[in-house]
Amino acid sequence: MKTFKLHNNIQIPAVGFGTYKIQEGQECIDAVKFALKHNYRHIDTAAVYENEKSVGIAIRESAVPREELFITTKVWNTERGYEKTLKAFDASMERLGLEYLDLYLIHWPANTKQFSNAAELNAETWRALETLYMNGKIRAIGVSNFLVHHLEELFKTATIKPMINQIEYHPGYTQADTVEFCKQHNILVEAWSPLGRGRVLENPLLVELAGKYNASTGAICLQFALQQGIIVLPKSTNEERIIANNSIDFTLSDEDIKKINNMTETGFSGLQPDNVDF
Ligand SMILES: NC(=O)c1ccc[n+]([C@@H]2O[C@H](COP(=O)([O-])OP(=O)(O)OC[C@H]3O[C@@H](n4cnc5c(N)ncnc54)[C@H](OP(=O)(O)O)[C@@H]3O)[C@@H](O)[C@H]2O)c1
Repeated sequence: MKTFKLHNNIQIPAVGFGTYKIQEGQECIDAVKFALKHNYRHIDTAAVYENEKSVGIAIRESAVPREELFITTKVWNTERGYEKTLKAFDASMERLGLEYLDLYLIHWPANTKQFSNAAELNAETWRALETLYMNGKIRAIGVSNFLVHHLEELFKTATIKPMINQIEYHPGYTQADTVEFCKQHNILVEAWSPLGRGRVLENPLLVELAGKYNASTGAICLQFALQQGIIVLPKSTNEERIIANNSIDFTLSDEDIKKINNMTETGFSGLQPDNVDF
């Protein structure tokens, strides 16, 4: 299993199983159990996905030793602030039924469009994550959807730098400035919607490369991120695709990676962290 190393020396499996839009209940339990059976050891959920309980059940029913797993959840936007975040963490842990968490993320930065005290709110939320980390309840802490200016602002008060920044990343939307900044600061990037939620899979360049490497366009997207040291979190409830997304065995040439990096913007979700209204 391919892993990357966080700046606190924790190993993280490079392919994680995304669970956004997987329904709480049997659908989620079955999908996560199937993923665990097929060698995924990294599961990405969030309080707002409302499926933490099912993720926890799947973990217990799978009987994979806890120490082999890497479980991520996220604090939702309504729970920002020091005390509220501590409470939100406890509620997530209760739903997951876990003793400790591997990675806790601030799901979205507060933005100035909605909050006059956005920077302070982000700093206080981060301080709660630092407390939980120092108390040994979480093995790693990070952020999600933070742009360069959010990170620069956070650094003014943070005593621990985030280990992860989870951002939208796929061919056609690679956020080069944020990725470069994270690399410089030893923050590992995780790609959400690494398949562009299906929006980029018919792109002519990706289709051409799929033919060249005898792979699917989905595999081209995932390998493109992985080869650049970026974690991928593909979501699927389809058994064939769950297996395929974690069994990639080809290498893209540097030239082809360059070609994908030079694609014109396509497939962007439209969720710009400075403008979202949730
Ligand atoms: N931090 C954030 O703000 C944030 C935002 C969005 C997502 N995320 C995380 O990132 C994960 C992945 O993102 P996502 O769910 O938006 O999108 P995604 O993984 O890019 O795409 C999922 C879609 O692609 C299909 N699919 C999966 N594998 C495929 C393959 N090999 N070939 C073709 N189609 C395939 C899936 O359908 P089937 O199920 O039918 O296979 C589903 O419709 C989420 O589940 C969540 O954990 C985080």
